[in-house]
Amino acid sequence: EETGKSGYDHYMLKEIHEQPTALRQCFSGRADALDGTITLEEVGEIPQPDAVQFVACGTSYHAALYGAATLREMGIPAEAYLASEYALSPPPLSLGTLVVGITQSGETADTLAALRDAKSRGVTTLALTNTVNSTAARECDHAVYIRAGPEIGVAATKTFSSQLVGCNLLAEELVEGQLDLRPLIESLRNLPDDVQSILDSSAAEAIVEEYGDSDAYFFIGRGKNVAVALEGALKCKEISYEHAEGFPAGELKHGPLALVTPDTPVFAVVTGDDKRAQKTLGNIKEVQARGAPVIAVTDGESDAAEIADETLEIPETTERAAPVLANVQLQLFSYHLADALGRPIDKPRNLAKSVTVE
Ligand code: G6P
Repeated sequence: EETGKSGYDHYMLKEIHEQPTALRQCFSGRADALDGTITLEEVGEIPQPDAVQFVACGTSYHAALYGAATLREMGIPAEAYLASEYALSPPPLSLGTLVVGITQSGETADTLAALRDAKSRGVTTLALTNTVNSTAARECDHAVYIRAGPEIGVAATKTFSSQLVGCNLLAEELVEGQLDLRPLIESLRNLPDDVQSILDSSAAEAIVEEYGDSDAYFFIGRGKNVAVALEGALKCKEISYEHAEGFPAGELKHGPLALVTPDTPVFAVVTGDDKRAQKTLGNIKEVQARGAPVIAVTDGESDAAEIADETLEIPETTERAAPVLANVQLQLFSYHLADALGRPIDKPRNLAKSVTVE
């Protein structure tokens, strides 16, 4: 087992560090930077769907939120559903709907049940998965592999990053876009180096030293960064057992703000400098007014770093690639927090890598 960890203390840390390689593999041969084209041979024959419904659980559900937001921006109605809800309360769909199951293992019972329900209603199904020949890959009409390599740690890390890249490739392959894809392709191609620079310089451990005995940890973001906020909180609870919650930043004032105190650090994921970033700056001030320290996870394009108490920096990139980078900083925070607390990081209590019962 020690050999399997290649010198790292935990599989999770090893897998966090494998992300540059995983991302390179996911992207390899699927985009042409000169022509600005993205091609996923696996889905070449699927016509542009009228709508896309994603079904997934856990971390993969957060990737689904990101995927749905991406497709909606491209003009395709798209929603992310928790597979356990979808299977028992199936939403309406038309025959032109594509149902996409995102599942690292390809074996999660809830996700398989949702995909089977969709298939029984006559629509095309697609598995976005890490596991070749998994049940999801075999049962769906199409399978797209994220090529992250084996993931042993129960908490998903590199596979989430690769799922986000996979969502971009899938969206661009499915939808006849008008935009010049070269900037996107360039940013996806730079992701391995950008992730590496975070791994080499992250201040996450210092944040743990400063705030590691807090009452709770909150995570906020808007747009695609909602997925990052939710994933940041999930990772934190899974491996540190600390109270952690993720919210779309605009929802803070509708309830969660009541939980905010000087002992609840708030991680604000602010990338770019659009309307969403500007609004989130307002949320940062809101929680600071209640005494909460704010850690901005930011690329420095907005004033987030100036306003926040602490910063976890990410390199500047496109709006689509930034969530991948922000999430790496949050993975490192959760890992170091769990490590400082002496948790069994690779095998958290009560959790399984793949849940094969509904
Ligand atoms: C379990 C794991 C999670 C994972 C979820 C979905 O709950 O502990 O890390 O996100 O299953 O797994 P899947 O293989 O379908 O992505």
